[in-house]
Amino acid sequence: MFRLHRSVNFDNNATTAVSRRVRRAMNRVLRRHHGNPSGAHALARSAAANLQDSREAVAQTVNARPDEIVFTSGGTEANSQVLAAFGETPKSEGIRILTMPIEHPSIMKTLEHLAGRGCKVETIPVDADGRVRMDGLEGLLAEGASLVCCMLANNEIGTVQDVPAISSLARRCGTPVLCDCVQALGKIPVDVRVLDVDYASFSAHKLHGPKGVGALYVRRGAPMAPLLRGGHQEAGLRAGTEGLHNIAGFAEACRGVPDLLARSGAVAARRDELLAGLRAIRPDLVVRSPADGCLPNTLSLGFPGASNAELIAVLDMNGIAVSAGSACAAGETAPSHVLTAIGVSEEEANETIRISLGDRTSARDVKHLVRTLRDFFSGATPSVPVIRPSVVDEAFLENHDNFVLDVRFELERRLMKGLPNSHQASMISFGRYLHQIPKDKNILVVCSMGVDATAIAYSLHSRGYRHVALLLGGVVGWQLAQPALYRRLGGMNAARLTPKKRPQ
Ligand SMILES: Cc1ncc(COP(=O)(O)O)c(C=O)c1O
Repeated sequence: MFRLHRSVNFDNNATTAVSRRVRRAMNRVLRRHHGNPSGAHALARSAAANLQDSREAVAQTVNARPDEIVFTSGGTEANSQVLAAFGETPKSEGIRILTMPIEHPSIMKTLEHLAGRGCKVETIPVDADGRVRMDGLEGLLAEGASLVCCMLANNEIGTVQDVPAISSLARRCGTPVLCDCVQALGKIPVDVRVLDVDYASFSAHKLHGPKGVGALYVRRGAPMAPLLRGGHQEAGLRAGTEGLHNIAGFAEACRGVPDLLARSGAVAARRDELLAGLRAIRPDLVVRSPADGCLPNTLSLGFPGASNAELIAVLDMNGIAVSAGSACAAGETAPSHVLTAIGVSEEEANETIRISLGDRTSARDVKHLVRTLRDFFSGATPSVPVIRPSVVDEAFLENHDNFVLDVRFELERRLMKGLPNSHQASMISFGRYLHQIPKDKNILVVCSMGVDATAIAYSLHSRGYRHVALLLGGVVGWQLAQPALYRRLGGMNAARLTPKKRPQ
């Protein structure tokens, strides 16, 4: 029933693998340029020259000037810096920011925070594809606005906005525009002059660069304030010694952008192949990504009647990574804000998964994904419900009808506390614990990350246990979803089950 398969990443919008070229460039910097670029000696000058090379490479990729690029720790910081520069002022009450309802959480959550400090935040209406309604924007701009936030490409459904048209409307009213280009770079052409925006954010790890580095484009002359204060690095806009190896990795990833763009047609063809394969097994499939004006790699798909948590677990068990929405929302029960903003109901959102291909996704990967879902939907893979970690609260854990079965390895238990009131059994000689597992209770099988427990859950199911479920994301997922509960109750009252003696 369980075939071993190499791991396949269909979650490239969450992150991408660091390419060999990027790894080499980073190693070179770690070996040769360990100086601090701010110093006044040869070691520092070589580091500063390397930093300048990287700045030029990133600037050139998006058609900016090198002095318009501020290196940051990633897209989140770049977005936050612009929003803080506008909203964290003594006069925040007079600030009015317009935003789309499908922005990334790094924008949405920061705006929520700023709204709490007196900023006015208003939502630009979007259509069923998540595209800005120009008449709605025009009306909002007419009342005066301090900033417009408009992402170029959406991370969940792939919608690409007509940013030049949005900027042109905003410019007529004298309103600056922040454009989140994190998902667009490397997938579609990005030219800040064509977009005609004042600020743009980028992140290296979406295009085979390292995590923890990105950039903020600040159009020459556009006002900006630092988020981090201290040294004079990045022209005073971002204090802190530059992470040269990360920045060099980002620059190398940018040098690979022309190749990535040259392959985008092939990626789109593979995506269409996948869609055709999935339609053949589920003709009722709902495509939530727009038919036109979409990232070439992104498919948001609804499977009526299926639970996305269960689909993710079944695919995961077969070595396939997909997501229910943005990576930041993993394990959450709330339906994706992007899907609800385009009119998808809560129930439909929970039947939806996001598949994002990479430039290296092969025909074999596509076949593996289609075959796995075909087996699942045809009943060849038995179904075990998956419970999201946010459902496993104190009431759940104290309910005597529930029986938490912890099948982690001993070392894993030492490294991380388990769920309270759990019953520990060994995954290896699992059959010897069966006599202690009650058939009349709801069994929740828990492992470290939600993958290893799958086989045990299916095994219990096939042995007549009627109420068996898996914990999505395992103990790690539960700790992330319930940090306070983990701190307070983690590991309490855990009991070891006693295995049946082996026959002599
Ligand atoms: C559209 C968008 N903006 C911003 C970010 C945040 O970027 P980073 O992970 O570099 O902080 C992401 C990451 O998923 C994203 O998809």
